[in-house]
Amino acid sequence: MSEVRVKVWDGVVRSFHWLLLLSFVLAWWTSQSGMQQTHEWVGYFLALLLFVRLLWGVIGSNYARFSSFIFSPAVTLGYVKAIFSGHPGRYLGHNPAGGWMVLAILVALSITIVSGFVVEAVIEFEGPLLGVLPALSDHSAYLLLDLHEFMLNVFWVLISFHVAGVVLASVQHRENLVRAMVTGFKTARKAL
Ligand code: HEM
Ligand code: HEM
Repeated sequence: MSEVRVKVWDGVVRSFHWLLLLSFVLAWWTSQSGMQQTHEWVGYFLALLLFVRLLWGVIGSNYARFSSFIFSPAVTLGYVKAIFSGHPGRYLGHNPAGGWMVLAILVALSITIVSGFVVEAVIEFEGPLLGVLPALSDHSAYLLLDLHEFMLNVFWVLISFHVAGVVLASVQHRENLVRAMVTGFKTARKAL
């Protein structure tokens, strides 16, 4: 048996991930400590990150593309069952459960960012969505504000499952997935 190193995560994916982690922590921290202006600047940066990742999901390298890691519900269910039986297949890119988790995080991020921009328009009369203000009743503006705040709870759940999934998959496949997200490389176990 020889171990061949394969480049799985390109620079865009790796930079996106670690900048996302950092920006998310900053967005959370600034929202809790009343640093409103900084919160919004971090929010703009998050919007840029999200835009780049969504684009990269279509035009990026193989393992970065959504088409390479969004699997059918049947395959995903089979994979989840295999996790519990202790013998899930090994994927070089995101596994089927991980792929849906990535999508869920990106959707949650989109909802939080769009609602953040609307809240910014309503409260401060500024930002890219200022134009939607006339179309909003007070009631819907407050609902969006509640939604924006509530998304933090959604993130805690998603991130807990995400990190637990990373740890579990690292243990089950005896490989360090965090290191792979830093270096970009994984080993493709290949029989000679
Ligand atoms: C992952 C990203 C984000 C998270 C986790 C987040 C979280 C939060 C939370 C928890 C609050 C409520 C703070 C409180 O208790 O008063 C808040 C408020 C706010 N956020 Fe965000 N936010 C994010 C992104 C954004 C973005 C992209 C914008 C757009 C510029 C934004 C604009 C605002 C505004 C204007 C408020 C103030 C609402 C108020 O004054 O009551 N946020 N955010
Ligand atoms: C200490 C905390 C974290 C660790 C150790 C971690 C680790 C990882 C690892 C190892 C992967 C690759 C998974 C795979 O091999 O399939 C990954 C992917 C991902 N993680 Fe995290 N993560 C952390 C926090 C977060 C947070 C806070 C977020 C979101 C706010 C996040 C969002 C994502 C996304 C979206 C991907 C997919 C990357 C892509 O394809 O672009 N992660 N994470």
